[in-house]
Amino acid sequence: MNNTFKGGLETQSHEITLQELAVEGSIPHWLVGSLIRNTPAQFEIGAQSYRHWFDGLAMLYSFTFENGRVSYRNRFIESKAWRENNETGEIKFPQFGTNPRQSLFSRLSTAFKKRPIGGNTNVNVARFGDRFVALTERALAMVFDPHTLETLGVYDYEKTDAQVSTAHPQFDFARNIGITYAAKIGIMSSEYRFYNLNGTKLDLLATIPTQKLAYIHSFGMTEHYLLLAEYALKLSNVLAMIVIGKPFAENFEWLPEEGSRFIVVDKASGKIVSEVETEAFFAFHHINAFERDGEIVADLAAYPDAKIVQQFYLDALRADGAGIASSEFRRYRIPLRGGGRATYELVTDENIEFPRINYEQFNGKPYGCVFGMSIQQGTTDFYNQLTKFDVTTGAVKKWYEADCYPGEPVFVAAPEASNEDTGAVLSVVFDSQRDTSFLLVLDGRSFGEIARVRLPQHIIPFGFHGQFFKEQ
Ligand code: CO
Repeated sequence: MNNTFKGGLETQSHEITLQELAVEGSIPHWLVGSLIRNTPAQFEIGAQSYRHWFDGLAMLYSFTFENGRVSYRNRFIESKAWRENNETGEIKFPQFGTNPRQSLFSRLSTAFKKRPIGGNTNVNVARFGDRFVALTERALAMVFDPHTLETLGVYDYEKTDAQVSTAHPQFDFARNIGITYAAKIGIMSSEYRFYNLNGTKLDLLATIPTQKLAYIHSFGMTEHYLLLAEYALKLSNVLAMIVIGKPFAENFEWLPEEGSRFIVVDKASGKIVSEVETEAFFAFHHINAFERDGEIVADLAAYPDAKIVQQFYLDALRADGAGIASSEFRRYRIPLRGGGRATYELVTDENIEFPRINYEQFNGKPYGCVFGMSIQQGTTDFYNQLTKFDVTTGAVKKWYEADCYPGEPVFVAAPEASNEDTGAVLSVVFDSQRDTSFLLVLDGRSFGEIARVRLPQHIIPFGFHGQFFKEQ
């Protein structure tokens, strides 16, 4: 076991701007724009500490490319949580795995309100119309300037009583619309919902009632349908969540006897067209999905149970030799008519997390290629390689370097590319030997390195998601 990755789980409090970084290799000249990523970067507030990897205060960082040159900057999201926490030296707002110290009265009076939300949007970024937003699993986003990364304010969705949402909205380019998931938690029953994004308005598209709300991080989409996978990690006692005041994550129970369920919703009408069961499983990320001969083919990075949520507690991640579960590349077949069950097969034996595809051209359609992070068997407790998957053959190509820990690989298609994988793959890597991070640029087709850009004396903590935005 190798634990040198732990430097990537520490607080980074320095905000810096580096105008022109040395490039080893060469950046393709067509690569113009910014990779903007989101990461938890502060885990201690005064004498208190966040408990889960998903809790840390959000920091945005960007690599900007122009004429083969690269600049870098990073900046905290100046949310209410960031401001009030740091002013008081105490955790003031609930996070995924950490709650503020709060009285019962205060918990009861705020439990069903949309607030308190600290705006610590530390999971992903997106462009909604002409605004750039940082997202988390709440129905609230923070607006930022894509050039300076300065926080501009709250992107407050109007008229929603949903308490939770997703940091993974989908974009339907054919219909020029964004779609998001949200959930309304109630004591007796709860609801999953899909909304069309209409500026800051959320237009309700579909409501799916449920007795016990599952923890859902993302959803799938095909040409005509939305796909909700209801995992067996469920909120079994809402009242206890409020009264006992356990952090959000701790109220979910693994209930394998309940199985899992796929719910297919028509994008145009919002009607549920299919609902099928399958054996209990858990996933954070849908990879892609498409329609084929009366069924939906859905690829997910799936786990046989939900232990991974526990393994992402900071104490567990930082413990020696604890290790994390690796997820399987599963292909589910979901019948669109006539009921039945959903079944799956493995696309490959290699594990996959933080999957990315050529989203603009192939999301929701038959496709051939996925990029992801994975764990080399027997080598580490954390993601330590990048993998390119040929979905049709199951063949893989890998990037690996000893003591290096790469992050989510973001694919950027080359202009007028003739192949699905013609372009560049961008990943931020923590080099534990040099105690610094670098941006790695791989060729999308060969998966060979074409450039790396080192940050002098600066570690970017392990974060979650980012996007490449072409010149704004
Ligand atoms: Co995610």
